[in-house]
Amino acid sequence: MDVLRERIENRTARFSVIGLGYVGLPLAVEFARAGYAVTGVDVDAEKVAKVNAGESYVQDVPTEVLASLVADGLLSASVDFDVLAEADVVSICVPTPLSKTKDPDVSYVVASSEELAQRLRKNQLVILESTTYPGTTEELVLPILTSSNLEVGVDYCLAFSPERVDPGNREYGVRNTPKVVGGITETCTEMATLFLSGAIETVVPVSSTGAAETVKLLENTFRSVNIGLVNELAIMCERLGVDVWEVIKAAATKPFGFMPFFPGPGLGGHCIPIDPLYLSWKLKTLDYRARFIELAGEVNARMPDYVIARTVKGLNEQKKPVNGSKFLIIGVAYKPDIDDVRESPALDILKLLRRQGGEVAYSDPYVPEIRLNGDTLQSVPLEAKDYDCAIIATNHRGVDFSAVVRDFPLVIDTRNATEGMEAPNVVKL
Ligand SMILES: NC(=O)c1ccc[n+]([C@@H]2O[C@H](COP(=O)([O-])OP(=O)(O)OC[C@H]3O[C@@H](n4cnc5c(N)ncnc54)[C@H](O)[C@@H]3O)[C@@H](O)[C@H]2O)c1
Repeated sequence: MDVLRERIENRTARFSVIGLGYVGLPLAVEFARAGYAVTGVDVDAEKVAKVNAGESYVQDVPTEVLASLVADGLLSASVDFDVLAEADVVSICVPTPLSKTKDPDVSYVVASSEELAQRLRKNQLVILESTTYPGTTEELVLPILTSSNLEVGVDYCLAFSPERVDPGNREYGVRNTPKVVGGITETCTEMATLFLSGAIETVVPVSSTGAAETVKLLENTFRSVNIGLVNELAIMCERLGVDVWEVIKAAATKPFGFMPFFPGPGLGGHCIPIDPLYLSWKLKTLDYRARFIELAGEVNARMPDYVIARTVKGLNEQKKPVNGSKFLIIGVAYKPDIDDVRESPALDILKLLRRQGGEVAYSDPYVPEIRLNGDTLQSVPLEAKDYDCAIIATNHRGVDFSAVVRDFPLVIDTRNATEGMEAPNVVKL
């Protein structure tokens, strides 16, 4: 391992990232900026071509930064897995979605580990970054890599380090977000910590890969459960005739023991709705039912229906049915300031309205186009025109509602985006 240590310390270690998506590309860029020679590998030839042309397709990676790293020869990409044989350090950043039956789909982790196993050599460090269930690194990846006849902790190192990237976050990126890492052996943890510290300000070693895998799932389960709690609070407050936003704001003045979470139209994105299910799935195999996870998932998944119920009530007061009414959904990305619509609850709201005969359109400057049940919809300007109702699903920074909010006959505000613009036509969640 001395060879690897020396290469990491003098920054001559060559770094390969498998999977150049929302996680892999920013990671590759940050290490290239720190002076390492980085090669990305992806099965998507279009992404590979874009990287090599210096063109970014990830919002958090500015094209100027990517282009200059490519021009300086610090960053390149390939569809050929043979580049892995040249790498001293390999990070795996492939997708970990759910299957149709909502079980973990680790097929991408398996496929990339198998490619790597064929090229694994002495003095390599492998870091799995994809979010996954506790035990994946040791029970799934290690046996695949062991088929190479190299001994972990002696000939090569294997660790798990969860990615915490928060797309659209302007304060925290790869460099200044502390990174947790746990290795299969102590040497693996030590090598991975040493490498990650080369481009990341704070690295937090833990005792095992299982602990590191569980850290990530705790973080996202914590969010899912607290969002579930506050979503249910919103439903309860409506029954109580109390303003949920006022309650949360006042509770948040407590300087200890309380952390505010806010209600919304449901969970979206690739992480919060999915990751907790990786934990509950693993626990099922150990004969344990993760009840908090199930309950939060259930409450959060029902929020689009709750938004529709509030919309129907609001329209009813104006003697209008959903059928034939015109709706404008404001903001379809799953959270503010990003262009990602994966699992976005706004899409569920659009589908539910359509199913009841509503005519739907959306306005989102970050998302020029969406696919909805086989149709393509294009973003329209934010103006009241002849809509019967607007539903605010995401409030991007810089989208100003003030000029138009009073012109809609009805506004369902699921995000408290119209705070300070209270009017009889505005209904808050
Ligand atoms: N997006 C986030 O905000 C975020 C945050 C933290 C953790 N994560 C986790 O990180 C992992 C990656 O997520 P992402 O959002 O970057 O996904 P993504 O879909 O944006 O990117 C994954 C990339 O992997 C490539 N790929 C798939 N199979 C491959 C293979 N066998 N070999 C090489 N490349 C392959 C895909 O073409 C794609 O470019 C997931 O486990 C996810 O849960 C994501």
